[in-house]
Amino acid sequence: MYFLEGGSSRFGSSIQANAGLGQFKQKSLFGRYSIEPSRAFCVDSHDQTFPVGVMKILAISGSVRHNSTNMAMLQAVCAIAPSEIEISIFDGVGRLPVFSPDLEGENLPEAVRELIAVIAESDGLIIASPEYVRSIPGGLKNAIDWLVSGDEIVHKPIALLHASHRGDDMLAGLRTVLATITDRFAGDIFLRLPLMKLEPAEVFKAVEAAENRSRVQAYLQAFSAYCM
Ligand SMILES: Cc1cc2nc3c(=O)[nH]c(=O)nc-3n(C[C@H](O)[C@H](O)[C@H](O)COP(=O)(O)O)c2cc1C
Repeated sequence: MYFLEGGSSRFGSSIQANAGLGQFKQKSLFGRYSIEPSRAFCVDSHDQTFPVGVMKILAISGSVRHNSTNMAMLQAVCAIAPSEIEISIFDGVGRLPVFSPDLEGENLPEAVRELIAVIAESDGLIIASPEYVRSIPGGLKNAIDWLVSGDEIVHKPIALLHASHRGDDMLAGLRTVLATITDRFAGDIFLRLPLMKLEPAEVFKAVEAAENRSRVQAYLQAFSAYCM
């Protein structure tokens, strides 16, 4: 069984979820949402226990719209992720100033430092974005522009998740951009869920439906393996 409780803004800052995969706790961390899986332990041949590694994935939505289907999809995906995959959502795309090389280096804005830090900590990125005017939304492209001259993105595994049956022009453009900024763009690892126009609660329901849940979990497992 899967349930959500607590929280008032969007899905709140203290969501508890039980997806049949152990207890998960969602907490707000300087504007990020993070779902922490319960720790798994292995017992080795000497009867010693040790924690199984957790893959840390950072998810970024290209939409900053309040009821965004892309953001809701990422939150729903967090909630059903296998316990060995920890997904954090960066929701600060809308707080980033407009990119200028003049602001790089010592003048780097705090919001950009935050983005770079969470990317550096992650094993891979998942990006979900709407199409705006047949292209990448300005806010997401702006976030990507901030990353280009740093080292953090160059070998970072990145995959796309898509919340619409439309948006192929944006996808083509985003694939070109991502394959330019990293040598580890996982173009073949892609999942599209037709969620356009749904409200967040409907998105959650659709993602947790049995068929989509197994597609999402297979997608996460494939990307996690790619990130190793
Ligand atoms: C300014 C604007 C431009 C858009 N341009 C396109 C477009 O070119 N092609 C398309 O398929 N949808 C377009 N859309 C629709 C969005 O891509 C679609 O509603 C998407 O699902 C919104 O994602 P969100 O729910 O995460 O905000 C546009 C929407 C807006 C607000």
